[in-house]
Amino acid sequence: MESASDNPAAPESSLDPANWPELRRQGHRMLDDMLDYIEHIRGRPVWQPMDPAARAGLRDPPPEQPTDLCAVHADFMKRVLPHATGNVHPGFMGWVHGGGTVIGLLAEMLAGGLNANCGGRDHAPIEVERQITEWVRHLFGFPQHASGLFVTGSSMANFIAVLVARRSALGAGVNRSGLGATGGRLVAYASTAAHGCIARAMNYAGLGSEALRLIPVDRNQRIDLDVLRRTVVADRRAGAVPFMLIGSAGTVNIGAFDDLASLSLIAASERLWFHVDGAFGALGVLAPDIAPRLAGIELADSLALDFHKWGHVPYDAGFVLIRDRDLHRETFAAPADYLRHESRGLGGGDFWPVDFGPDLSRGFRALKTWFTLRVHGTAALGAAIAGNCRVARHLERRIAAEPRLELLAPVPLNIVCFRYRGDDADSLNAAIVADVQESGVAAPSTTRIDGRLAIRAAIFNHRTREEDVDAMLDAVLLHGDARVRGAAGDARGAGRNAR
Ligand SMILES: Cc1ncc(COP(=O)(O)O)c(C=O)c1O
Repeated sequence: MESASDNPAAPESSLDPANWPELRRQGHRMLDDMLDYIEHIRGRPVWQPMDPAARAGLRDPPPEQPTDLCAVHADFMKRVLPHATGNVHPGFMGWVHGGGTVIGLLAEMLAGGLNANCGGRDHAPIEVERQITEWVRHLFGFPQHASGLFVTGSSMANFIAVLVARRSALGAGVNRSGLGATGGRLVAYASTAAHGCIARAMNYAGLGSEALRLIPVDRNQRIDLDVLRRTVVADRRAGAVPFMLIGSAGTVNIGAFDDLASLSLIAASERLWFHVDGAFGALGVLAPDIAPRLAGIELADSLALDFHKWGHVPYDAGFVLIRDRDLHRETFAAPADYLRHESRGLGGGDFWPVDFGPDLSRGFRALKTWFTLRVHGTAALGAAIAGNCRVARHLERRIAAEPRLELLAPVPLNIVCFRYRGDDADSLNAAIVADVQESGVAAPSTTRIDGRLAIRAAIFNHRTREEDVDAMLDAVLLHGDARVRGAAGDARGAGRNAR
């Protein structure tokens, strides 16, 4: 393809194409390739490890000279696309990954063209982000004065919530002088089933991960309220300063919902900041049969959630909602001459996201969320969530009926933890999961339930049907049987890329 330097009309240093018609043709081919990828995803293996040659091809030195766009695209198709995580595929059931949508892909393209920097200033992309905040506020019954912000994901959203709660506990001084004597005594509460990013957030906030008290859970993995109450009292007696209580709306291991209404009462009576980690479960509000489990979320001081999980918005699209906008702003705003907020002109606008989080330069995450919510509508997203839970219940029933398998935890939502019975079951099941992933048939992951290694099938993809979890389970049995018989190699060969 011709470069800008070949075209005398183009300024010497411009990076725009010299040949727009050719660029358009190539651009349409690139879009078509991605649409083909999604349309025909079922025909592909879920995941394929990179062969050494593909990996080596991504270790080149910095490219000083230009390469034709078609050649770079061909390289992407050969080296990158076949070796992606696979979460677009209905057989992907590992960790907590959203499946994305075609609408999100198209919206990402528009956002890329606009190249908006959403740190501040007076422009429409900021208003789109505001619009989403309004929708989120409405969905969760937060007051008009609440503020919201797109972030990378719930790890960052939970961190921001800890910082705002810390600011609430310690006052304005913490921004200038740090934790002080009281800060060193702050303690927070979450259950042992809470996501690890909360302890990390405590660490990053300078409070230390041990300042997060991990309260035991009941047999349904919900925080034990009596132990919680007693621990808060004991901590106060011992001179600690309880400041924050974190409830989980969808625990990472099994999708349990803490009793948020009771937690909100405890938080109120103990004067604790009440935060909800709703990374994936919060969007259960869109599914009528799940929404009641979120009762009490409307009383939270802050909420973390991800549109890139059960909202199917392409990565990344995390979100934090804070009840008290002023406090949120006071936690982060730090005026600078070069970022003066004007009353008119492009420097105007009364919502500058830089005042509500750590990032100044920010992409236009709101656009792909706006498109997804508008084009699909919240009812369809809720139906997809309910559909995932139905598929998980089907998987649960199949496991319960199979003597070679054992369920390791209840299935309250869309996550099924189980394992193949056998000697040295931890290593056996870890090996089975790797076998199944390498076969290309499905991609579950692992976790530990009561100290035992579990195969974890988390059904988050709106494309996943009963036949997909059946294929995953058949592959688990195939590889489990083969390993128990000591013939794993044969089974790996037989099951490879079976789709
Ligand atoms: C319950 C829960 N909280 C927080 C997180 C972290 O979210 P993110 O990966 O978007 O940072 C996850 C991720 O799976 C999660 O399941």
